[in-house]
Amino acid sequence: MTHVRTLVLDEVESTQAVARTHAAMGAPEIMAILSFNQTSGRGRQGRAWVSPAGKNIALSLLLRPFVQPQQGALLGLLASVSVAETLAALGLDTGLKWPNDVLCGEGKIAGVLSEASIRSNRLEHVIVGVGVNVNTSPEEFPPLLRAPATSVYMETGRLQDVEIIAEALIQRFTQLYEQALEDDLALVASLWEQRWVHKGRLVRRPDACGTAEHIDPSGALILRDETGKLIRITSGEAEIVEKIDSGEHD
Ligand code: BTN
Repeated sequence: MTHVRTLVLDEVESTQAVARTHAAMGAPEIMAILSFNQTSGRGRQGRAWVSPAGKNIALSLLLRPFVQPQQGALLGLLASVSVAETLAALGLDTGLKWPNDVLCGEGKIAGVLSEASIRSNRLEHVIVGVGVNVNTSPEEFPPLLRAPATSVYMETGRLQDVEIIAEALIQRFTQLYEQALEDDLALVASLWEQRWVHKGRLVRRPDACGTAEHIDPSGALILRDETGKLIRITSGEAEIVEKIDSGEHD
């Protein structure tokens, strides 16, 4: 397995920005930037990612895979699988929500932000940013969160060593990344789907509504609408409306 160069920093604005600087300087893959505090952490859809200092994982992975630009989204999915597996090894019951959220029960325990640099239809690099709530207490989450959040501490009742979990996560990601690139990228969607908690549920967005059917080989979400037509979703979020009533009741 490739040795991953890991830069560990006490405080940064955002590990994504640090990774972008290293990408511009020509850093080879795989480089990991880990910080214990971000003063301006970024989340998906232009949102902020807020995390109390010293308690959680803020990690960015700089990757330069030889894959098609449209396959770049698979790396974010792979990161969420790696987080789910790393936390499962600590005894947590983890699941995935499309595209990249890691859940524990109803609560979000980790999020992934994937940023691709594409030039002349070639994928130059991808920076996969991973935020994992490790030692956050319930009162430390910002009020008015969009969705319930949780942490490893809240799930296990024990404070954890952030750096040890981060190392295990980097190692698991690297193993899966190399395996997927060597064998078959289809591995990513199949591993992801095994932990998908919303398969078969109704998804409603302003532009589409349908039952969550599967994840295609490039990581897109495939819905089936009420006429039976398949709809391919490649960006944004997928909020679950309700369980489909199968007609069977306990
Ligand atoms: C989400 O909105 O769910 C994605 C959150 C991603 C947060 C991580 S923390 C490490 C990296 N640096 C950032 O500024 N954001 C990502």
